[in-house]
Amino acid sequence: METKRVVIKDVKHPRDGELLEAAQILRDGGLVAFPTETVYGLGANALNEEAAKKIYAAKGRPSDNPLIAHISGEKELAPLVAEIPETAKKLMKAYWPGPLTIIFRKSDKVPYGTTGGLDTVAVRMPSDPIANRMIALAGVPVAAPSANTSGRPSPTTADHVWEDLSGKIEMILDGGPVGIGLESTIVDVTGEVPMLLRPGAITLEMLRELLGQVDVDPAVTGPMSPGIHPKAPGMKYRHYAPKADMTLVEGGTEAMAAEICRLAQESISQGKKTGVICTEETRHLYPESLLGQAQFRSMGVRAKEETIAHNLYAVLREFDDIGVDRIFCEAFPETELGQAIMNRLIKAAGHKIVKV
Ligand code: TXA
Ligand code: MG
Repeated sequence: METKRVVIKDVKHPRDGELLEAAQILRDGGLVAFPTETVYGLGANALNEEAAKKIYAAKGRPSDNPLIAHISGEKELAPLVAEIPETAKKLMKAYWPGPLTIIFRKSDKVPYGTTGGLDTVAVRMPSDPIANRMIALAGVPVAAPSANTSGRPSPTTADHVWEDLSGKIEMILDGGPVGIGLESTIVDVTGEVPMLLRPGAITLEMLRELLGQVDVDPAVTGPMSPGIHPKAPGMKYRHYAPKADMTLVEGGTEAMAAEICRLAQESISQGKKTGVICTEETRHLYPESLLGQAQFRSMGVRAKEETIAHNLYAVLREFDDIGVDRIFCEAFPETELGQAIMNRLIKAAGHKIVKV
């Protein structure tokens, strides 16, 4: 299949004329990749089981991993869910449209092909003007996982999507680089106490400020113990993974940089192509000699964590592209946005963490 790429001229104010063909493809049961404020999504009609199946095939994704249904306005929620709990209403009022996915009990209208066989459905209302208007024009809820091949880092540019999915989907809407760079926060409101299933730009601190008690699914913080299953099935995979073997180093900045130098030297002496992920504030802690031998990338500014979130997946993909064998990466404090950053880095490293 030939994939058509449509470049949106003014990404803040897309014209309907630029989105109508995408909307038609979705209505006809085809696949369209599109930008959102978090990462690029791979969309299909959420109410069409056959269309949802195509998503799993294009991504190479296990079909027990449920999809998020994206809507453009609040009126579109009621037909998808069995009930709208008070907690959900508060969340919607505060954070929709935006980078927050809410888990509801599903209605009969939502096929099990979309929810991976679950009786619940994940719903999100993106604020990105291209995503939001495309969904409105399609007139159907749009099931959309991140638009990457399963297991690869999520795409934050249309080029990333192109690398993974060209030839496998009908269209890519190119809206330039996304804003946030990490997937949405997921909150389950079907139980007594709301539960955070995946951290994102709407932080745990923000959720607790709004709702009071919020529990955290153990899969968010630690490796899964045998026999324990994360509530978001997708959290069990070694997700967001670069091809290289990655180690995360945690500690005070100077000790951390010293340990990364040691590990990187060792790796280089074993003949491995070695990558180091640092930050603007820590770059100067690495000696010139090492800068010449290893591939260095700064992920952004520690004091502005949104820059780290924004660049995280692009840096991992870049290391894939240049073919490094080993990556050593600095860790971050696990508060506020740092919780989402560390959640993704820990998964990318397959839980390989060195503490100094
Ligand atoms: O920011 C985002 O959420 C992006 C953009 C495209 O909107 N989408 C995204 O989708 O990250 P995906 O498929 O990569 O991640 C969806 C996560 C998976 O971990 C999945 O297991 C979980 O949501 N999920 C979906 N439906 C669920 C449900 N009913 N119960 C629990 N977890 C669910
Ligand atoms: Mg994903």
